Amino acid sequence: MTAHPDRAIASAAAAVRARLGGLQPRIAIVLGSGLGGLVRRIADPVEIPYAAIPGFPIPAIPGHAGRAVAGRIGEAQVLAYAGRFHPYEGHSPADVALPVRVAHALGAHTLLVSNAAGGIRHTFRTGDLMLIRDHLNLMWRNPLVGPVHHGELRFPDMSSPYDDELLTLLRAAAHAAAVPFVEGIYAGVLGPSYETPAEIRMLERFGADAVGMSTVPEVLCARAADMRVAGVSCITNAASGIGDARLDHADVLRATGRAQEAFDRLVVGWVRQLCAGDS
Ligand code: HPA
Repeated sequence: MTAHPDRAIASAAAAVRARLGGLQPRIAIVLGSGLGGLVRRIADPVEIPYAAIPGFPIPAIPGHAGRAVAGRIGEAQVLAYAGRFHPYEGHSPADVALPVRVAHALGAHTLLVSNAAGGIRHTFRTGDLMLIRDHLNLMWRNPLVGPVHHGELRFPDMSSPYDDELLTLLRAAAHAAAVPFVEGIYAGVLGPSYETPAEIRMLERFGADAVGMSTVPEVLCARAADMRVAGVSCITNAASGIGDARLDHADVLRATGRAQEAFDRLVVGWVRQLCAGDS
């Protein structure tokens, strides 16, 4: 029999805490495909390879490094995950959400999620950073199914999954750092195949502006634990049928690579504003 899920979270959290040397990260950041370079902006970094965290799988997808990095951005203590686990890899919803639950167990109350996404809205361009206003869960999976985890709600409210105040701060940080941005609704799908043009037309009618294969499970867990959530998608390609190009993960990574600098400025500015508001 496998350990009770709460014990799995506690033992992973204990392994991370043992390496933090007194740091108390209040902000967790999940870095999407190819966006892991943000960890270079973290001062006094403590690196924790996923192999040292019990229960953490090792990411197998190019663009996902497989390490947690704790440290400081300005005054704020943060824990960033460079490398996430996706349902399409065959990971259970609980495994996908484990990093967020561990961050919460360590005392994080705020979560920034990021991802690479295909642009559905016709005005979006490759390299745009999209502030996520809401999402559609089209993965047909939910990490909250099963026993209620310690500190989580059975029926979490999802009327405001992405925190209004954090979104306002993201806009302010983008303006201050001269980072152009767009806003929209993220559709989370299972993958791993990219969508057909017909599926993209369907998603467009559903109200989606961008589509990707991640993020939703982590946000569901964070909201169940009453963490405040903000999200940013890097638009890496025109979604299937919108442009003529064939979709390829290598192109996705090239696009996030080009957007990394703007993404970093946005996130660093946002963390600093958040911290200034807290103190
Ligand atoms: N579809 C799904 N996931 C993605 C895409 C896409 O077009 N681009 C990057 N991640």
